Amino acid sequence: MDKLIVNGQRNISGKISVQGSKNGALPILSACVLTKSQVILHNCPKLSDVYAALKILNELGCKTDWQGNSLIVDSRDASAYSISDELMREMRSSIVFFGALIGRFGLAEFSTPGGCEIGLRPIDLHIKVMEALGTEIKNENGRISAKAPNGLSANNYVFQFPSVGATENAILAAAVARGTTVLENCAREPEIADLADFLNSCGAKIKGAGEGTIVIDGVGSLHGTEYSIIPDRIVAATLLTAGAMNGGNIVVDNIVPSHMRPLIPVFLEMGCNINVGESWMELKAPKRLGRVKHVVTMPYPGFPTDAQAPIMAATTIASGTSVFTENIFECRFKHVPELIRFGANIKVEGRMAVVEGVRRLYASSVAAPDLRGGASLLLAALAADGLSEISNVHHIDRGYENIENVLNQIGADVRRM
Ligand code: UD1
Repeated sequence: MDKLIVNGQRNISGKISVQGSKNGALPILSACVLTKSQVILHNCPKLSDVYAALKILNELGCKTDWQGNSLIVDSRDASAYSISDELMREMRSSIVFFGALIGRFGLAEFSTPGGCEIGLRPIDLHIKVMEALGTEIKNENGRISAKAPNGLSANNYVFQFPSVGATENAILAAAVARGTTVLENCAREPEIADLADFLNSCGAKIKGAGEGTIVIDGVGSLHGTEYSIIPDRIVAATLLTAGAMNGGNIVVDNIVPSHMRPLIPVFLEMGCNINVGESWMELKAPKRLGRVKHVVTMPYPGFPTDAQAPIMAATTIASGTSVFTENIFECRFKHVPELIRFGANIKVEGRMAVVEGVRRLYASSVAAPDLRGGASLLLAALAADGLSEISNVHHIDRGYENIENVLNQIGADVRRM
């Protein structure tokens, strides 16, 4: 099992290019199944979650091949419509293959993803919208079999909650359904628009993705394409936070600045100076970070739940009291006991965490509890006095490509063991 050894309190400054988006790549990899052709994806991040999606594609009969940072997916010979329990467990976001499988084969088989480190992860919203699009679904002891014997048919559907994954599955299925589907109360995350842009470049007719209402004219078939995945806004936020916590002047490059809008007010409230260019954002840290009065996680364009843990790490050394309310996932404070090991002062009450900023953090030995929680521990270790050790790095590797190399390029001292 890999560990990261972090020599803290180095100045984190400089310009760094941001990897492609994990949450953008995963639904697009699933969408490749729908195309029945060859797709070239640029800016695809090399992450364990992406490798898990490639295993699924291979299990379905697709060919995959890396050429540098570009990935070629050929789904012409795909013939299987079943995802093994083992691969479903490896990555719970595999549920996003549902819409593509049913769209391509009229059949899909997979296991319910089950709970994980951050919450229960039910799939009721996915099931309901797929039923509305003409799918018959059976759940036998956690194994789902779905079929659309008469093909998928368009419908008007209002999501009870703007689930990212359920919106993506609905787009995938409706893209090839008969007729025009209108989806309302959709998730508005940039990764939804990325999926729609990809599908449109394959011949789909999707309008409004990234807004609450999405209108999809089903098309008979899709063709191959060459497409570049959007940059990862959560990785960008993590790197900016590293600069903010370590007196830095940092520029994240190759980003889409508008995707960072929900985060900017928080950095400003902490006293950071922000400059934004066409494809970059610069953060200059103050002498000491100020507290953030109240961080409330919400669906986009609200503050992202994926940035809650990283920003909490920053508030542990801010002057004053910061309050966090986690509205999206039930158990997303598992990093708190580990942050406390660095000397942070945090109290959790249900979905709320109260952070009293301390003057300094001390090196510690901690275990990453989940992906973003792991990132928050890495941030704490970068700001702590001394040599820290982070275990369970596989969680961090799910979403951060070569994290130690990236951080070392901007002044950190991180080694993998
Ligand atoms: C996606 C992101 C994840 C991010 C999350 C919220 C990917 C691969 N992952 O996850 O990084 O944290 O959006 O921005 O893109 N829910 C239900 N029933 C369902 C589906 C969801 O109750 O059928 C609940 C979930 O348990 C959770 C909330 O809705 O509490 C949000 O989930 P959702 O938006 O679906 O997140 P994901 O697509 O799983």
